[in-house]
Amino acid sequence: MRDVGARPLLSGHTQVVGVIGWPIEHSVSPPMHNAAFQALGLDWCYVPFAVPPERLREAVAGVRALGLRGINVTVPHKQALLALVDELTPAARAIGAVNTVLVAGDRLRGHNTDAAGFLRALREVGFAPEGCFALVLGAGGAARAVVFALAGVGAKITILNRTEERALALAREFAGCGAEAALRAGSLDLPTLRREAPRARLVVNTTPVGMWPRVEGTPWPQDVPFPPGALLFDLVYNPRETRLMAQARAAGARAVDGLGMLVHQGAEAFRLWTGIEPPVEVMRQACLQVLGGS
Ligand code: ATR
Repeated sequence: MRDVGARPLLSGHTQVVGVIGWPIEHSVSPPMHNAAFQALGLDWCYVPFAVPPERLREAVAGVRALGLRGINVTVPHKQALLALVDELTPAARAIGAVNTVLVAGDRLRGHNTDAAGFLRALREVGFAPEGCFALVLGAGGAARAVVFALAGVGAKITILNRTEERALALAREFAGCGAEAALRAGSLDLPTLRREAPRARLVVNTTPVGMWPRVEGTPWPQDVPFPPGALLFDLVYNPRETRLMAQARAAGARAVDGLGMLVHQGAEAFRLWTGIEPPVEVMRQACLQVLGGS
């Protein structure tokens, strides 16, 4: 049976967005955004583009030439995009990475939706981060977005990292970011964690430790009690329950995975491109279907 009145999949009016990465085949963004366009009946489509680093400049020129409305940018291109767009938002500049490009006329504006997506995901689970004591594990690219977001809402942040110097550098860099914020840094080791953990109200794991396929890993040593009153936000979303999340729950703490941030960084991009409120639940279900969860 054919739905006679159905809109064709693509038309001469179709607005095109997509994602540039290398590799790109495991990205959940195409199903997530296409499900959203379909749910709202929008004549838009989202395409994956596998672009090797040496062709990035050409690809960005192609975004302009082909009249795409925007693109997402993922590993390994997020830093290189900083120099290839015409304007940067304060978030993209501070985080040092572009994950979303908005095409505005003939200008490309580089955004970073990770920080806003992180805050929305936190609020969605009922956590108000303003002024909270937060422990951030890791000091890489993902940590930069999290620290920028938390500094902006006046959190008291302690960054702990395996390589202490990286944590110190990150804390120094973001020290002036939020008027109310306070930043400290140290080594992700047993004595430091023992000292810092009890007052944490929020613990964010920004390291890849515990991610599939090395699911037995955890950045939290078994000998340190997880603070029972804290919320654990693990940026890992595969598996849906990491070993660290199990440790937190066993201690009586609440734990959420990184799916909410994945969905909300995408929802922020959708908002920027279309100016329409995204169907967040549709996007979440599309991700879950791809990831094989429920
Ligand atoms: P991303 O952009 O995903 O944050 P990254 O910039 O490579 O990736 O950063 C990875 C972070 O996870 C770093 O903070 C790293 O610690 P180092 O700075 O010491 O390398 C941390 N990390 C990675 N593997 C780790 C492990 N096995 N134990 C503890 N921390 C780890």
